[in-house]
Amino acid sequence: VWAANRVSDLLGVRYPIVQAPMSGFTTPELVAAVSNAGGLGSLGAALLAPDALRAAIDDVRRLTDRPFGVNLFVWPEAPQASAEAIAAMSEALAPYRAELGLPEPQQKPSAPPPGLADAQLALVAEARVPVFSFTFGIPPLAAVKDAGCVVLGTATTVAEAVELERAGVDVVVAQGAEAGGHRGTFLGRLERSLVGGLALVPQMVDRIRLPVIAAGGIMDGRGIAAALALGAEGVQLGTAFLSCPESGTPTPHMDALVDASDESTVVTHVYSGRPARTIETALIDTLERSGLEPLPFPLQAALLAEIRTAAAEQSRPDLMFLLAGQAAALSRPLPAGELVETLVRETEDVLRRLS
Ligand SMILES: Cc1cc2nc3c(=O)[nH]c(=O)nc-3n(C[C@H](O)[C@H](O)[C@H](O)COP(=O)(O)O)c2cc1C
Repeated sequence: VWAANRVSDLLGVRYPIVQAPMSGFTTPELVAAVSNAGGLGSLGAALLAPDALRAAIDDVRRLTDRPFGVNLFVWPEAPQASAEAIAAMSEALAPYRAELGLPEPQQKPSAPPPGLADAQLALVAEARVPVFSFTFGIPPLAAVKDAGCVVLGTATTVAEAVELERAGVDVVVAQGAEAGGHRGTFLGRLERSLVGGLALVPQMVDRIRLPVIAAGGIMDGRGIAAALALGAEGVQLGTAFLSCPESGTPTPHMDALVDASDESTVVTHVYSGRPARTIETALIDTLERSGLEPLPFPLQAALLAEIRTAAAEQSRPDLMFLLAGQAAALSRPLPAGELVETLVRETEDVLRRLS
């Protein structure tokens, strides 16, 4: 009974359990396995060029006939960094590049080509993707709504949820401060927008008419039952799915999740120029202490891209960016379908115990 509500109706799923879109981590295999198990798999597609996005959507459709989601970013317009800022940050990174055997950077860090978001959005509409979700703002929604996509927007505050409702989304994802990955914040200041899920969800539920999906720190049936108790009609789990063998998570990142504790993560700008929650590593600590202002999003991420890739390949977690939520220590390395089944069973156990 707990699973029959507006979110499962709108998404067309058996259980209102969403595998969070995680750009770079959510393979078509992961997405399809979650959807096949009765949840909603979602593809983090923000960085995919249109051809790659089309191929990934086709792959998901080959692996499942159930609903799934595609997620995009609202990119900033033409971010700029001065030559001095790039030089200063590059100098701070030079010892790490040397350690990883990387040559001097050959190009200036660049943002995705202008028009990428428009092309991605047009493709989502054209492919009639069942569920479209987004973060970092509000994109133009007319085309995806005309195409019949169910639309999910990310909010980190009540004010953002109100804006999303006004813009015509169908469901709001309430991203609590516990959440791994980038903060979706697009209105308020970061420090004031780090609202914990226990505080955020009921305030949001009271304020808007749309159904709310809770995200952040949910790893098992206890978290799901708690979110339902707060008035959420669905949950979105990211970190919990990073340990699934179907995910694209590099092995050192998976190992770090197992080794994590409740105190392991920080919210930092140094990964991409936008605040993101990640396990603290030596590289993050050094960059934070350097006092250097990170380049504006996403140029900082572009400047670090080769370091990230090389560190993952060379199994150097100290030089990686290990995006994770505050409850990473509760990770379980289960195949995605089994994880969904386990979450459902645990939720039902908790609800029974409480009633
Ligand atoms: C590795 C990682 C990558 C993420 N990438 C995205 C993304 O591409 N788009 C998005 O909307 N949210 C992204 N998120 C945030 C999730 O949607 C969600 O808010 C978060 O995972 C919930 O917290 P949890 O990780 O504690 O479950 C990402 C989270 C993680 C951990």
